Amino acid sequence: MSPISVAIDGPAGAGKSTVAKLVAERLNFLYIDTGAMYRAVAYLCNKEQVDCSDGAAVSHLLRNHDFRFEEGHDMNLQVYIDGEDVTAHLRNPGVSKLVSLVAALPEVRSRLTEWQRAFAVTHSVVMDGRDIGTVVLPHATVKVFLTANVEERARRRLKEYQEQGFDISLGELIQSMAERDRLDSEREVAPLSIADDAVKIDSTGKTINGVVEEILRLVENAHVR
Ligand code: CDP
Ligand code: CDP
Repeated sequence: MSPISVAIDGPAGAGKSTVAKLVAERLNFLYIDTGAMYRAVAYLCNKEQVDCSDGAAVSHLLRNHDFRFEEGHDMNLQVYIDGEDVTAHLRNPGVSKLVSLVAALPEVRSRLTEWQRAFAVTHSVVMDGRDIGTVVLPHATVKVFLTANVEERARRRLKEYQEQGFDISLGELIQSMAERDRLDSEREVAPLSIADDAVKIDSTGKTINGVVEEILRLVENAHVR
């Protein structure tokens, strides 16, 4: 039987990775967090002091460093650069600020898209990101566009940051998430947009489990057809 794929796209803090992980667990599929791949590139640029908007310099970094992605504990994508596990650093606010710049570079997108597609050839996957249903897996079995209003998304992220000890205000967070969404939606290559055949789910005020069940029903229905 050919592999099944579930594509989940949407803006920052919509709940994509939380629900994608749970859906993958329930279906026994591989969960692929494509945001972690873009974050890894931004992390390395920052470490090597390379300008995140310089396409040639970032491509050079991608060619000259060894990136490895593996399924880790808790289903998180474990990211290694030159053998070093960098996973714990990828969600820092500093990386979040830079990531949309590297994600706008066509040479970075084409490389990461290749890596992402390779997972879906060999495994049934739940993959989340910004362009999964539109570009990476245009023939995905199920496509979901997950949203929530920006205040709720920022409040969710604020709670995570506070738990990790980062000092950031709700206002700052709303501003930085809105700016990232704007950059992601307005870039020329593979912008954040809703695929024609995606089901839109607004998670504002919904529980995580409620959204997971909604997606599982979509997969079940697509499978029966
Ligand atoms: O978790 P959050 O929604 O905050 O972000 P993420 O999924 O980790 O993605 C981080 C950034 O990577 C996004 O803001 C995009 O700039 C970029 N990204 C992308 O361009 N395409 C994807 N398929 C996934 C992420
Ligand atoms: O991946 P994305 O940036 O879309 O969002 P996430 O990292 O999965 O979710 C951000 C936070 O919102 C997490 O702490 C989730 O537990 C929380 N969340 C929630 O409170 N209610 C939901 N329906 C979905 C997520």
